[in-house]
Amino acid sequence: MSRTVLCRAHPSLALIKYWGKSDSRRNLPATPSLAVTLAGVHTETRVRPATVDCVVLDGAEQPRERYAPFFEALRRRLRTDLRFHAESRNSFPTAAGLASSSSGFAALAAACVRAAGGQLAAQELSALARIGSASAARSLFGGFTLLPAGARAARQLFPEQHWPELRVLVAVVGAQAKPLSSRQAMEATRRSSPFYRAWLASAGSLLAEAIEALQRRDLERMGGLARLSYSRMHAALLASEPPLLYWLPATVTLVRECAELRRRGLGAWETIDAGPQVKVLCLAAEAAQIAAALQEAVGAAKPACGEQPAGGRILECRPGPAPEVRVEEE
Ligand code: DP6
Repeated sequence: MSRTVLCRAHPSLALIKYWGKSDSRRNLPATPSLAVTLAGVHTETRVRPATVDCVVLDGAEQPRERYAPFFEALRRRLRTDLRFHAESRNSFPTAAGLASSSSGFAALAAACVRAAGGQLAAQELSALARIGSASAARSLFGGFTLLPAGARAARQLFPEQHWPELRVLVAVVGAQAKPLSSRQAMEATRRSSPFYRAWLASAGSLLAEAIEALQRRDLERMGGLARLSYSRMHAALLASEPPLLYWLPATVTLVRECAELRRRGLGAWETIDAGPQVKVLCLAAEAAQIAAALQEAVGAAKPACGEQPAGGRILECRPGPAPEVRVEEE
């Protein structure tokens, strides 16, 4: 049986970052990651059976080779010969460091399996999505998730209701696609950064404490550990040859603004992925005040060469759900 299926999935924001692979052929992560699935931003993917595999993202056909391992694994898993046409839209800038590949492959995996008339448990969908992008393994679950180092699938640690007051403010400081994909940059870090080994060694040591901070809903502790994780990841990137720097002037402005907000007693804890955007962890009661301060700071920041002025778009997100799948046409 085959059908048209629509899936909406939410990006997975890592508090403790995945950066590096223990097995690049199977796309297994070298570091454990701890993340929150974000409501307020999403990818929507419509899938139907077709004669060739084709993925169109925000109107642009995607390179076949990026998706081939995923589609091959999908067919092996479902024991089918079906090919798929997928049309995908992000509610946020694509490939700019907003974890679009996490929600993208999660939506694709969930939609393709249903479009083929199959049914897989969330763990199995997670393992399938991981072949596309390891962060996508986490987006198959709502709330707070863990993808252990070397694991084939993620799992949920706490449901989205665990910490209803948590907010993530996403400051979009540049909407251009990143110059280097996470995958390429991870490989460059492994190959050429003398800090890569130190990064791997330190990544695991943050995890146990971060899980405990999450369990206690301790923003200050969780925020401090999230800062260590992203700072060490970017330090390893910066030490690559050639040096890899995703940040824009407005990124630095916002890192400093968060420090200033904390000095004034507000709980604003930033984290940064493979792009210039800054995501700020805070609590609902302070979210409006912090968002206004970030907006003002980013609005005043000088744009980098060739960049549009940042404009200060702040999205407010909260812990979100697992992907939702709807069969549109039988
Ligand atoms: C910085 O999951 O996009 O967002 O597995 O190669 O597709 P691939 O990488 P991807 O990397 C995400 C890196 C990160 C940190 C994180 O989400 O844990």
